[in-house]
Amino acid sequence: MTTATKPIHKLEELHKNGSPDFLPLNGTDYVEFYAGNAKQSAYYYQVAWGFELVAYAGLETGVKDRASYVLQQGKIRLVLTTSFDPNSDITMHVAKHGDGVKVLALWVEDAEKSFNETVKRGAKPFSPPRTMKDEFGEVKVASIHTYGETLHTFVERKNYTGAFLPGYQPAKSLLKTTPVGLKVVDHCVGNVELGQMNQWVKFYEEVMGFKLLITFDDKDISTEFTALMSKVVSNGNGYVKFPINEPAKGKKRSQIDEYLDFYKSGGVQHIALLTEDIISTVTELRKRGVDFLYVPETYYDDLFARVGKIDEDIEQIKHLNILVDRDEEGYLLQLFTKPVEDRPTVFYEIIQRKGAKSFGKGNFKALFEAIEREQEQRGTL
Ligand code: FE2
Repeated sequence: MTTATKPIHKLEELHKNGSPDFLPLNGTDYVEFYAGNAKQSAYYYQVAWGFELVAYAGLETGVKDRASYVLQQGKIRLVLTTSFDPNSDITMHVAKHGDGVKVLALWVEDAEKSFNETVKRGAKPFSPPRTMKDEFGEVKVASIHTYGETLHTFVERKNYTGAFLPGYQPAKSLLKTTPVGLKVVDHCVGNVELGQMNQWVKFYEEVMGFKLLITFDDKDISTEFTALMSKVVSNGNGYVKFPINEPAKGKKRSQIDEYLDFYKSGGVQHIALLTEDIISTVTELRKRGVDFLYVPETYYDDLFARVGKIDEDIEQIKHLNILVDRDEEGYLLQLFTKPVEDRPTVFYEIIQRKGAKSFGKGNFKALFEAIEREQEQRGTL
């Protein structure tokens, strides 16, 4: 492990010095995927991941051109959308990127102000503020562009009591769903092209009022063969954290290059979901067929010398192949799925934090070697 990591700010310090937050965020509102077959993807998230179907929009609800399924677990909301029109933006998005994240929606108190403040600072507008109404009240939304073809939608729902958004009807899963203990979105990671990372960090700092939290250079994140660079930005209260990765030169092609080749632009690489009991979450996900990256037994040889004492049963940690890391404030446990679609693009992280507020730097090497083994099998290394 190197010492090149530069902690720039601690979360608690973000509030101090400087002007009041012009973009207060309550958290992630939803993550929307554009998908080739939303109905079947929704089944996967219900059966394998234990999400409950809570709302639906489609032909049966008067929507003629698309279908959307809203799935919830804890405070995590995923939306899966498919288009019926071969020429729509949704269909084009799926054709170009495969199934992928289109919208990282942010929950705000004032969507119009959020839009105006960010556009004033240079955000490229996607759709201006509009109010949607139904018998449960009203929701205001507005969207801006971020990296690749990804959007941030500001969602103001303080005057709404419905299941999701006006236009959606409440729905229920057809089978009994059993949650696996996932609570909130911990962070969402973006991959951008070589040389673009700093530009997007600047966007989050200047346009969104985020602060740079951590910098990882290619010495932190490298194996014998590949390297990448990453910077983590956070909003003022720390509820929304976006690491941004770019490829770095190595002997072989990094996982970021592979992602960009298959996603055909920058985009969301992984979504980290927080659990309070990673052992039961991962046990259950494995039982239901969710496929995780594999780290070899040797990972555990010096692990406990490195991270010290942990509360969890070591044999269980090994058996489930869970990764552990420690920072100054505590430790964390994490595990990464393989990509959840056929293209090697989007995947999930399961994370449990026991005081640690960092991102598992001590695991980067083992993790990236694990990804390289997968790349080798795919012929993309
Ligand atoms: Fe992560």
